Amino acid sequence: MIVNLCQQHSLISNWVAELRDTSIQGDRMRFRKNLERIGEVTAYEISKVLPFVEKEIQTPLGIAEHKVIKEQPVLATILRAGLPLHQGLLNFFDKAENAFISAYRKHNKDGGFEISLEYMSCPDIENKTLIISDPMLATGSSLVKTIHFLKEEGNPREIHIVTAIACTVGIEYVKREEPNITIWCGDIDDELTAKGYIVPGLGDAGDLAFGAKLQM
Ligand code: URA
Repeated sequence: MIVNLCQQHSLISNWVAELRDTSIQGDRMRFRKNLERIGEVTAYEISKVLPFVEKEIQTPLGIAEHKVIKEQPVLATILRAGLPLHQGLLNFFDKAENAFISAYRKHNKDGGFEISLEYMSCPDIENKTLIISDPMLATGSSLVKTIHFLKEEGNPREIHIVTAIACTVGIEYVKREEPNITIWCGDIDDELTAKGYIVPGLGDAGDLAFGAKLQM
């Protein structure tokens, strides 16, 4: 299932607009904060489809019946660009376990690149709800590699992807490879450059959040 959160009139649309805006995105703190806010609100949206259980809560004056979340999800993100979105999800799923994966584009001499995954720290994900954040779902190849990498550690019950901007080509690829996942998008764009950048997109999310890196 694909959910485009920009289709409703909501603050997410406002924050994605600011992420894209060249006159605003030079403010790195605001760029990270907007990603974090998108993570928070998306956590709230995802919580509506997660299992809840009835619980009796002792108040100072009596007992209140409440629905509470049955189990916290595991939050996974791809370093480094995923960190602000991950922080937003963690602010709301505040007792979640966390997984981190490093992925980067290893550029070839011919101008192409391959996705290299090198580091992973992962809690138990067997039979858990797994929420993976990656701000830009471009070709989808780093995401699919990440899912395969994580699945070597255990078999999650369900997988949700959280992204600020997704590209239709990438969505189709992820759907083909992992048909049972839900993708939550801040917005969806249709074009991808030969170098794998989303158009109109926003540029390089990792550089905008944390500063330019040397090419490797
Ligand atoms: N990663 C980014 O940061 N931006 C894109 O457009 C695609 C991948």
